[in-house]
Amino acid sequence: MCGIVGFTGTQDAAPILLDGLKKLEYRGYDSAGIAVMDQKTISVNKVRGRIANLCEKTDNGSSVPGTTGIGHTRWATHGAPTEENAHPHLSNDGRFAIVHNGIIENYLALRDELIREGYQFQSETDTEVIVHLLERYYRGNVREALLKTANRLRGSYALGVICSEEPGKIYAVREASPLILGIGIDDNYFASDVTALVAHTRNVIYLEDGEFAELSQRSIRIFDCTGAEIHKKTTRILWDVQAAEKGGYPHFMLKEIMEQPGAVRATIAPRIKNGTVEFEELGALLPELPGIRKIIITACGSAYYAGCAGKYALEQLCHIPVEVALASELRYANPLTDEHTLLIVISQSGETADTIAALKECKSRGAKTLAIVNVVGSSVAKSADYTVYTWAGPEIAVATTKGYTTQVAVLYMLAICFADHLCQLGNDKEERLDTLLALPRLIQQAIDMNPSIPELAKKYHKSKALFFIGRNTDYASALEGALKMKEISYLHAEAYAAGELKHGTIALIDDHQPVIALCCNPSIMEKTLSNIVEVKSRGAEVLALTFRDNQKILPVADDLLFIPNVDALFSTAVEIVPLQLLAYYVAKENGCDIDKPKNLAKSVTVE
Ligand code: BG6
Repeated sequence: MCGIVGFTGTQDAAPILLDGLKKLEYRGYDSAGIAVMDQKTISVNKVRGRIANLCEKTDNGSSVPGTTGIGHTRWATHGAPTEENAHPHLSNDGRFAIVHNGIIENYLALRDELIREGYQFQSETDTEVIVHLLERYYRGNVREALLKTANRLRGSYALGVICSEEPGKIYAVREASPLILGIGIDDNYFASDVTALVAHTRNVIYLEDGEFAELSQRSIRIFDCTGAEIHKKTTRILWDVQAAEKGGYPHFMLKEIMEQPGAVRATIAPRIKNGTVEFEELGALLPELPGIRKIIITACGSAYYAGCAGKYALEQLCHIPVEVALASELRYANPLTDEHTLLIVISQSGETADTIAALKECKSRGAKTLAIVNVVGSSVAKSADYTVYTWAGPEIAVATTKGYTTQVAVLYMLAICFADHLCQLGNDKEERLDTLLALPRLIQQAIDMNPSIPELAKKYHKSKALFFIGRNTDYASALEGALKMKEISYLHAEAYAAGELKHGTIALIDDHQPVIALCCNPSIMEKTLSNIVEVKSRGAEVLALTFRDNQKILPVADDLLFIPNVDALFSTAVEIVPLQLLAYYVAKENGCDIDKPKNLAKSVTVE
């Protein structure tokens, strides 16, 4: 996700801002910029690519005078990673400069309104509506303009603002995106996280949603959402900088597992409108849906397993046959695709060579192509006819977690959107939408319901092999659960369709063989129960993942993992979470390099 920094004091601001942005590089970004105020003049420097380019452009900040400023690293969500789309953004009158971390969900309507009033836009970003609103509402009082602007915004934002009419002051506004103030001696700071502050001060104030602050060289004033001044306590940061980059977590993977409720919310919420799921980016595709006779989902690794999970919702709700194909196979399979085929391509990085090749092969044979990617402007996004972005923010750990769950969430949304357009959604539409909107909360519950996982990991971490079994949507979850275990703990793990065990694999079940049984689909619970009994009668130890009130499974399992009750069609996004945590803690027991597993790459851009 994006990172923002701000400084005001007696020293030159630019070098301090650049240093702060370097501390935020780990968050992942594709462009960067700073705005510095010297007396009443604001100068803006921004670049595509690395902060090193910004340092070169500003001679490490020495060519930019001024002791007040703001800075930004951008992880593109709305608009490709270009210099024009990089922050800071300036108002038309040049009075205001802002930086933003978050997503303005109602930016299109605000953009239309502002354009009608004559404001000129320089970028494709959602952020730019904010700086033009500030200009519109400014009548000599920046705090008032901030309040009026914030009242127009829907979504998440951590804002940094400077105004040429108020030299020496910087403003910070927080709504659903972290923003922290740093208290100096003759200077004050703000940043998206403590990483960018601890080199200057360990005394910080965490802003809460709805609060904003006015910082000058020697004072920090904080206000609530009504504009009333409030007092907030100071916190002393004890983390070392390295730990701070991970938000206090020991590994990026654990941090990203914990970020999943927010990542899924950021991906789903802006697309639930007018009582249905709306994708602005799919306007031209929807009228073509009645002509689609087959959907093929193609991807690699976890993205492929996300497709396996989304298949069930697409087929059940849209009544269109769905195939899920490994991209590395599909590209050479002489695919039977034509104008009646919709190819859904899934890729976190958007740069996986096999996935790009499969996309091009099917597109050349007439398929309509829809990409689900997490990186704006990536190769897959550029090659597909349509692109839907996951808004998971940058994923640093090689083994994907929030990238996977946001991909699954988009597939659920596509299923509802397509089915609604095809008039296939029965009277359970509202219930489906409620489940979709509940997913972030259910994911958080799945995290909170399993404090025993670190202990369970101690029991299973020396296993020679682990079998993950399940049926239907549980089988799709088992596929990803087994991969997570393999790729970070290096234990052999295999996912098996539970009904298939008796046709061979059950020969491998011996005394104390761990079997992880996924039992989150009521329609086939009895069948999975019989598979559990089958393996137990051959000596297996069964760790069951199920609902807390599942009286059929609880008595027969040796160990238990829980998820909250959830519609089976949408359960994978929830049931995968305890399996991610189990793999994480097993790998930790085995002393593995969790964020950078041996032999693996975050994205395999070669064949
Ligand atoms: C692998 C990654 O290299 O590629 C997996 O380790 C990922 O996490 C797979 O699922 C596909 O990558 P992408 O970027 O196309 O989703």
